Amino acid sequence: MADYDFDVLVIGAGPGGYVAAIRAAQLGLKTACAESRETLGGTCLNVGCIPSKAMLHASELFEEAASGKLAKLGIKGSVTLDLETMHAQRRDAVKGLTGGIEYLFKKNKVEWLKGRAAFTGTDTVDVGGKTYRAKNIVIATGSSVTPLPGITVDNEQQIIVDSTGALELAKVPGHMVVIGGGVIGLELGSVWKRLGAKVTVVEYLDMILPGMDGEIRKESLKVFKKQGIEFKLSTKVIGATVNGSKAELTVEPSAGGDAETIEADVVLVSIGRRPNTDGLALDKAGLAVNGRGQVEIDHDFSTSVPGIWAIGDVVPGPMLAHKAEDEGIAVAENIAGLTGIVNHDIIPSVVYTMPEIAGVGLTEEQAKERLEKTGGSIKVGKFPMMANSRAKTNHEGDGMVKVIADAKTDRILGVWIIASLGGTMIAQAAQAMEFGGTSEDIAYTCHAHPTHSEALKEAAMAVQGKPIHI
Ligand code: FAD
Ligand code: NAI
Repeated sequence: MADYDFDVLVIGAGPGGYVAAIRAAQLGLKTACAESRETLGGTCLNVGCIPSKAMLHASELFEEAASGKLAKLGIKGSVTLDLETMHAQRRDAVKGLTGGIEYLFKKNKVEWLKGRAAFTGTDTVDVGGKTYRAKNIVIATGSSVTPLPGITVDNEQQIIVDSTGALELAKVPGHMVVIGGGVIGLELGSVWKRLGAKVTVVEYLDMILPGMDGEIRKESLKVFKKQGIEFKLSTKVIGATVNGSKAELTVEPSAGGDAETIEADVVLVSIGRRPNTDGLALDKAGLAVNGRGQVEIDHDFSTSVPGIWAIGDVVPGPMLAHKAEDEGIAVAENIAGLTGIVNHDIIPSVVYTMPEIAGVGLTEEQAKERLEKTGGSIKVGKFPMMANSRAKTNHEGDGMVKVIADAKTDRILGVWIIASLGGTMIAQAAQAMEFGGTSEDIAYTCHAHPTHSEALKEAAMAVQGKPIHI
């Protein structure tokens, strides 16, 4: 250790990097974390998971009151929107949580190296003009917005924005056009729809939410349409210009055809995210990125250069905070000589709209394809939220739960949920799958009544064709 400054130097303090740094320090390793942002917590805490959920929560309450839904419960009176206060509570949540990470760094003796890091060798990194040598270096630099060629994002101007700009809009747009019917488009589109904007989602594919179960995608589209969000599917944006305070978008069918123009007050570009490696001088460490700009890793998160590891959005796999966090723990444990493992087959994903859309494991399409290859087959059990007593009582009847199991072994292969509490309910499914559970295991587990989770039990019972309440 004599000529090393640190046992572990983590680059990036997002959910991957800060968790890796804390766990490494907990394991007795001398640890530093380089972060160029003013605050710790990465995309997730500063401009991602947390601020978007703060706006989703507040806008949901506003919409319930303003649309008269609360009046139906006997809660009457008019409400007005104080957008500045709504933004202030969002900033407050971010401040509290990013400050919390700073506290955790101090508590665990993780040194925060403030500034941009760049490799100068296989075990050396420059941060703010000073070079540090570390036995192990973890790349956890995350991702940023994928640009759309020909469209210039200007978050200050608040006309063509990315997700960071869409969190900060100073007024509710008359018409917001969202480019991309993925997770960000639907979450942030929902926020501004609830606050009063007309929202049109332009999606290149013929369906929203790529990667999710086909039936769940179709059902979600129905739910969003019912909420008043408009969709232009199989449509691509070929240009956007700003004229005064408006944007004019030119769109045409994805398969080619006549172009049309759409006028918008705000355009949200949300067509995906790409790994952050610019300026990192990976070549100085002897590393290169793959065709998708990602740092390739082995199952233990090691790169091709001994002592350099990578985790989170910068490596292949879903770009999710909890995946990055689990990889952060695992990589630190591997560095410390323990066995850190992440089961990448069981990573839940949640879209935090109302209702929430959640899934874990295989889609029905994937499960069918996989089992058919070996002569097997699947069984599917479904249960509508409308038949769940708690959801119905709470006027949250939209949605369903779907359990996909191996017909022969009954082992659960995937669970998909559209429900107001889907993001919370999916944890039970993930745990059952992690334990190698069967649909029968869930069906015969006693679930508290009345809870939304009983819908998962009923869907599991439906796998054997014997649900009680439908
Ligand atoms: P990041 O969080 O991106 O952190 C990387 C950090 O590294 C950044 O702070 C960056 O400044 C720093 N950095 C980069 N390069 C350098 C360098 N050279 N030197 C020093 N520092 C550097 N995921 C969920 O699971 N749930 C959600 O609800 C959710 N909501 C989201 C909402 C939005 C609007 C967005 C944009 C994303 C959301 N995500 C969500 C995705 C989630 O934010 C990411 O998957 C997660 O933050 C990835 O963590 P990470 O540690 O890999 O990288
Ligand atoms: P996304 O990959 O979820 O969706 C992008 C959508 O844009 C896709 O449907 C794609 O077909 C479409 N698209 C691509 N190019 C297009 C074009 N030219 N015109 C029209 N549509 C086009 O990406 P998104 O929403 O930007 O989010 C990025 C990532 O951030 C997500 O994949 C997810 O990993 C993470 N995230 C996670 C959240 C969560 O867990 N709740 C919330 C927000 C983001």
